[in-house]
Amino acid sequence: DTLAKVQKHLERFHLSLEKLQEVSARLEEDMIRGLGKHTHHRAPVKMLPSFVRATPDGTEKGDFLALDLGGTNFRVLHVRVLEEEQKMLKMDSQICTIPQEIMLGTGEQLFSHIASCLGDFLECQNLKEQILPLGFTFSFPCEQKEIDKSFLIRWTKGFNCSGVEGKDVVKLLREAIHKRGDYDLGSVAMVNDTVGTMMSCGYKDQSCEIGMIIGTGTNACYMEEMKNVERVEGEEGRMCINTEWGGFGDDGSLKDIQTEFDVVVDKTSINPGVHIFEKMISGMYLGEIVRLLLVRLTQDELLFKGQTSEALLSAGRFETKFISDIEETDSGVENTQNILTELGLKWDQVDVHVVHLVCDTISSRSAHLCAAALATVANRIRVNRGLDHLKTTVGVDGTVYRKHPYFSKKLQATVRLLAPDCDITFLVSEDGSGKGAAMVTAVSQRLALQSR
Ligand code: BG6
Ligand code: GLC
Repeated sequence: DTLAKVQKHLERFHLSLEKLQEVSARLEEDMIRGLGKHTHHRAPVKMLPSFVRATPDGTEKGDFLALDLGGTNFRVLHVRVLEEEQKMLKMDSQICTIPQEIMLGTGEQLFSHIASCLGDFLECQNLKEQILPLGFTFSFPCEQKEIDKSFLIRWTKGFNCSGVEGKDVVKLLREAIHKRGDYDLGSVAMVNDTVGTMMSCGYKDQSCEIGMIIGTGTNACYMEEMKNVERVEGEEGRMCINTEWGGFGDDGSLKDIQTEFDVVVDKTSINPGVHIFEKMISGMYLGEIVRLLLVRLTQDELLFKGQTSEALLSAGRFETKFISDIEETDSGVENTQNILTELGLKWDQVDVHVVHLVCDTISSRSAHLCAAALATVANRIRVNRGLDHLKTTVGVDGTVYRKHPYFSKKLQATVRLLAPDCDITFLVSEDGSGKGAAMVTAVSQRLALQSR
């Protein structure tokens, strides 16, 4: 019958525990390659040093600005860190939009837009005359040379501005600000959003040593032993490594689990061939995988009596947000009916059931793959420290993790199976990673003062 045939199409998306263990082991090998002095150049998992060597100790203080670029929203923030109360306050923040033309325009346009958003914010806050330090969350892979020198390796997700790859992003920002000449910045600390997320949670929970994002894109960072970070001098202590796990599979290592639908999503993306793992997991792509599956099932006459619609046939029209709405416990059925009607489809009860099944399959695969990757990271920390048992906290952010009704539960349950020797607490970051970026600036100021 219909359901059995549908299940047949979905089979490829169900990954057994053994398969997930295999994926986890493969990622571990790739992480080691990414860290190696002689192997990192062509490693798909880049393992980028962040130059963040310490998590907050609670004695940081001062006023900071933060920029948060690369997720769903571009944000500007004013943050105050109070030593006495061990508190980090968001004084104010503003969301600015980045029009599509700018996301796909020139680097100059992008940075001048950012500088102007920051300028407007400072104007409103009456802060233009002050020279404040800035934490800059920039959620793209960067080869960092110092905390304030960071070269973009490549754009990912929806951005593709010309003339930025290979350039120092901090320099581009400063140049755009100087060109205006109406305000200036103090010291700048550049961080990936995973690092900002880890640091923003780290102020509350000092055992937070992993940062994870499952949003538009997916990625994680963690505290690695300096002696294993072969690309940076020094053996003592730890450094936060931005894994860029989204690039896992870029050398073909995930061929066995990639479906024909994943292949199409990759081919039709703005960056074909890169960030294969991310394209099976994150919000920018999940809706599209579901849409392609629905089209196929319809063509095989397993849905909507074989009748597609113009909307269903249009790339990007099935939003990832729909998956969350469809899987909602109480309102799921009604939401599904509304969404299908909106998409110009004629449905019956079986269709509604099948669509739910497809969404559940795709979001579950995403959660399971993330769990496999997180298990690898947690286990690595455990083994690094020679522990039989590790208790640690991961700071998390991203719309998929936050908004999907079951995603976090599935992810957590699967991590428990894949990393039984790690006891992981999940902490969702408040106010995003900007606060964490400010905290990185604060920590580096504290360290600079201490070393004087
Ligand atoms: C935000 C963080 O809350 O989450 C950003 O502040 C991060 O730095 C983002 O990039 C990730 O989620 P999404 O879903 O907006 O991509
Ligand atoms: C993409 C970016 C990465 C970022 C992640 C989550 O994978 O390459 O830097 O952390 O998205 O936003």
